[in-house]
This record gives sequence, C-alpha cells and structure tokens, in this order.
Amino acid sequence: MSNFNDVVHNKQKSSSNWQALLAHQHHISSLKLTQLFEEDAHRGEQFTVVAGDVYLDYSKNCITSETMKLLLDLAQECHVTHAIEAMFSGEKINFSEVRTASHIALRAAATDEVKVNGSNVVPLVHEVLEKMRIFSDRIRDESCVGATGKVIRNVINIGIGGSDLGPKMAYEALKYYSRRDILIRFISNVDDSAFEEVVRDLKPEETLFIINSKSFTTVETITNANLARAWVLASLNNDVAATLKYHFVAVSANAAAVSQFGIAPSNMFMIWDWVGGRYSMCSAVGLSTMIAIGSVNFHAMLAGFRSIDIHVKSSPLHQNLPVIMGLLAVWNANFLENKTVAVLPYEHYLSHFPAYLQQLTMESNGKHVNRKGDAITISSSPVYWGETGTNSQHSFSQLLHQGTQIVPCDFIGFVQTLFPNRHGHANLIANLFAQSQALAFGKTKEQWIAQGTSILLAPQRACEGNRPSNTVLIERLTPNSLGQLIAIYEHSVFVQGVIWEIDSFDQWGVELGKELATPILADLIRQDAPNYQQDSSTNKLVHRYRCLSGRVLDEN
Ligand code: F6P
Repeated sequence: MSNFNDVVHNKQKSSSNWQALLAHQHHISSLKLTQLFEEDAHRGEQFTVVAGDVYLDYSKNCITSETMKLLLDLAQECHVTHAIEAMFSGEKINFSEVRTASHIALRAAATDEVKVNGSNVVPLVHEVLEKMRIFSDRIRDESCVGATGKVIRNVINIGIGGSDLGPKMAYEALKYYSRRDILIRFISNVDDSAFEEVVRDLKPEETLFIINSKSFTTVETITNANLARAWVLASLNNDVAATLKYHFVAVSANAAAVSQFGIAPSNMFMIWDWVGGRYSMCSAVGLSTMIAIGSVNFHAMLAGFRSIDIHVKSSPLHQNLPVIMGLLAVWNANFLENKTVAVLPYEHYLSHFPAYLQQLTMESNGKHVNRKGDAITISSSPVYWGETGTNSQHSFSQLLHQGTQIVPCDFIGFVQTLFPNRHGHANLIANLFAQSQALAFGKTKEQWIAQGTSILLAPQRACEGNRPSNTVLIERLTPNSLGQLIAIYEHSVFVQGVIWEIDSFDQWGVELGKELATPILADLIRQDAPNYQQDSSTNKLVHRYRCLSGRVLDEN
C-alpha cells in the first residue's frame, strides 16, 4: 500500500463525491428537522452510534440517510481507513515534522506492540508509567518530603499548551476521584499575576513543581520554572542542590536541557517526540493527574482511551463513532458553512473541557495548506468555543437560538450523577435535552400566537429551529469514560484532518509570534532608546509601554 502522505490530491472541490455533497446540500437546505422527524418516527434511533460507554445521538443534525451515505463515500475517497491504519502502524503521518503520531502507544496494553521507527515503544511507555506510579504513590503516602523534611502537600504543574490544558482539564474532570489533601495547581501563562496567585498562600518547603515541557525550551514554561526556583530558594537558604532535588521534577523529551536546568535524570519523566503536546495527557505529562487520582484510576483512564482506539481501528466506517463525528463536523463546516462549533458539557467537572478541546481541534486543524504544501481550497477547522450548561443558557445561548449565524453544538452529559443524594441532576439533564430540542425544532410565530402571544411580540419570541447539534450521552463520569470521551474527539479531529488533507500533528503557525516576541521584548526592556524599526503601530505601542512603565524618561 502506498504511503499515506502520498495520497494527497487537493481536489475536494472537483471530486465527484464533494460535488455530490454540494448538490445534496441544496436539497437539505430546503428541508427542516421538524419535517424530517415527522416523516421518520425512528430517526432518533437511526442516527445514533455507540462506542464503549458513549452514546452519540446525531439525529438532530441537518442530514438524511443520503447525507451519511455521501459522507461515507467521501471518507472512502479520502482514504480515512488507510489513514487510521497508517497512524496505528507507525507511518510518519506528521509529514512536516517527519514523525509518527503515536499517541495511541501511550495507552496501549503492556502486551501490545506499537512500532515507531521500527521499534516497539510500548515497553518504554510502561517503564515511565511505572516510574510515575512509584513517584505518585510516594506523594500520596506522604513519604515524599521536601528539603526540610516537610511532607509535600502542594503540587504545581508548570507548562503551557498541551503540557497544561490536558492535565488541567483531567484534574478538574476527575476531581471527584482525587485526594483532596494534596493541592494541585497549574501555572501556564508567562504572567507575574498568574504565578503570584498560585503560590501566594503556599509554603515552599511543602511544594513540588513539575516542570512540564516536551521541548524544555518553551519561553513561558522556562520563565516560570526560573521564578519557581527563585521562590523556593528564597525560603530554603539558597541551597540550590536540595531545592532542585526535593522540589522539582521534569517531564520532557529534552534530557540535556532538563539536566542543564539542574534537574537530575532520576527526577525526569521521559516523553517522546512522537507524541504531540495536545495528544500527550496519557503520558508523564499527566503526572499531576496520577498524583491526584492515583495510578489505578489513571490506568482506568488509559483503558478508556484504549477501548476507543480499538473501536476506531476495528469498526467499519458507518459504525465508527469518531469517524461519524468527524464527517458530521466536515458536513457542518464545509457544506452548511458554519464557522464555529459550541461545546457544551452539562457537567461542572468538565468546565475546562472546551479550553482543552480548543487546542486539540484548532492547533490540529487550523491549517491553510495540505500535506504537499498546496493551499487548500476549502475551509479547515471551525472555531471551537463553549461553556458548561446551564451557565451557557444564561449567557450566549440567546445567539444560538435566535442569532443570524448557525452554530452547531456538541452537548455532553452523564446519565448518573456523582452525588445521588442531591436532587438537581435530572434538572440539569432536562435542560440539556431541552436545548437540543429547542435548537432543532424551535417554535414558530404561529405557535406563539396560538398560545396567546400578541402578533407584535410573536416574531420576537419565535425560534426558527433547524439548528444542528450532537448529543453525547455517557453513563457516568469516571476516569475510564473520560478517557473514552477524549479519545473520541482526538480521532474525530484526525478524521477531519484527513478529509482536509492536512497535517493535524504540526503547529507551525504558533512559531511566528514566538519569533517576533524576542526583539519586541528586547525593545521593551532595554535601557537605551530602541531604534523603533518595527511597523508604526508596534513602534507606537512599544513606545507607550516604555513611557508608562517608567523605562523612558526622555524619549520623544
Ligand atoms: O503552542 C505550541 C506548542 O508547541 C504546543 O503544541 C505545545 O503543547 C506547547 O507549545 C508546549 O510545548 P512544550 O511542551 O514543548 O513546552
């Protein structure tokens, strides 16, 4: 079989499947979800798919059976099955970085084999998982102490992007399962306020920092790591060796930089360049998660990921939940031309899920060229955003129901509450179901008038409906089901990238800003006057900053 990266044709617009979908979209535009549900009493059963504990109801999308057939044809034309096989078999599908995208190895069973550059990496993964278990057990059984002999009570993860968003989301999501006497916090932004607020009520001698950076060169992370080191040193009589030994561990692929920072190899947890940051929460990047919930729960989460990996690899396309979800995302973005997607978890513990998903989706698929470097002629990733329900209902949902742009929604809910003694859960879930119903079917002027609303007010109250949504329903929020949910989104994002023929595993777009910040920083902090050789806007902004921050006394 040919290499997956070679099967780029950049002819989506001219392909017969794409054209068929475009023509079909004209037909769909003339239909209403109300009518589709009236015509087919089984629609709510027909357009559902199950993977593990996850039930996806996609019946409230603006689709028919024909739409799904055409989308599945497109998936075949775009070699989705081949792409999935290529990922699992260790092809270098991260074309631009000449790497495999082997995050599936992070959750493989010890007996599985996942090859990277010809070698099975699963033993390496399990070696690190065991090192994580030993370390997190020591924190949890209080045998891990700081330089002065005090028990470690606070764990602070310093990292950004994938080295922050995944662990932070998982910590919040699984807080119910976590040890509450170990405080876990996160510092990501290079922002003195963020650092200050995280450490202000903590004692350095009881605090452990996890410096989480695959590259160990990310400016934000290294700046914060240096701040942390100074903060601990200031209270431990400047004993650098003890500070680093007892209060700092690193998660990285860059052993040399970790050692240069002063962290010994025994305090370093390895990750590998074949794991993208946003796909890394199952690795040592999730050390804070394991400390919080324990290794048994962490392994249950990995098992959840693994069960979806098995599902995506072995299910035919038409029963493959992440594939269906990915194809629907393509349908909504490219054919119904919706520019954003709202992610609405009806679960407080998933409050960080939309932020996590933003990196996963947009850093993966916010691309403008295909794997061959040619401009793609169709839209790639929509903008993802969201908030927990029902909070969302009292802020932006007005626009979802009556705004002039259509926003497809992903509703996520859990059948069982973690707190059965309280009685609010049915109310929460009723709201979730009602929102998807209101979006799909709306309520016409005529219906309002029939209920006694005045003719004047009826248009204001009317909701046109026909607004698409998915409902993801899971039995209970557990480490295992969280793993399943995330793996579903990971694979769905991959499927979308395959249709768009882009490399979902690089992120070159973030590099330019990093490059430009260096000379700007130099200008902001230099003692003598800068040359002001930037564009006129940036020059003025730099000058204003220097004036107001007291750096400029006599510059004009
Ligand atoms: O934002 C770019 C990026 O490279 C992300 O992909 C990554 O998750 C983040 O920076 C952090 O990188 P690192 O783990 O190397 O510090």
